[in-house]
Amino acid sequence: MKWSDDLSVQVSEIDGQHKNLIDLINTLHDAMLAKQGKQALSGIIDELAAYSVYHFKTEEKYMQNFKFTGYPAHKKEHEGFITKVDKFQNDFDEGKLGLSIEVMTFLRDWVVKHIKETDKMYVALFKENGL
Ligand SMILES: [Fe+2]
Repeated sequence: MKWSDDLSVQVSEIDGQHKNLIDLINTLHDAMLAKQGKQALSGIIDELAAYSVYHFKTEEKYMQNFKFTGYPAHKKEHEGFITKVDKFQNDFDEGKLGLSIEVMTFLRDWVVKHIKETDKMYVALFKENGL
């Protein structure tokens, strides 16, 4: 999964965080393909979950500060992702679920769709407010 300009929201701080998020998904994907141990994979999933929370908080802080009307719906999407990753992490740790192409595809597709469709909605407002 590669960063490309069509993923840019024209705010360097947020683009940087999106790049880190994509890097983490790629790291997880590579670790899965390299058949790394459960502990190593679990550690990367932990990182992905923690970084997602951190990144979403950044976006939500700006949305609130700038009184973005789409904030509640946007926050709901973030929460849906966190819930899904948390469940995935639990199931993985308990051995109920393996890392699969399906899981990786879900993560990649969600991030791309969310950036292109949902994040792009706040761009004009963020730019107006000097970001
Ligand atoms: Fe977002």
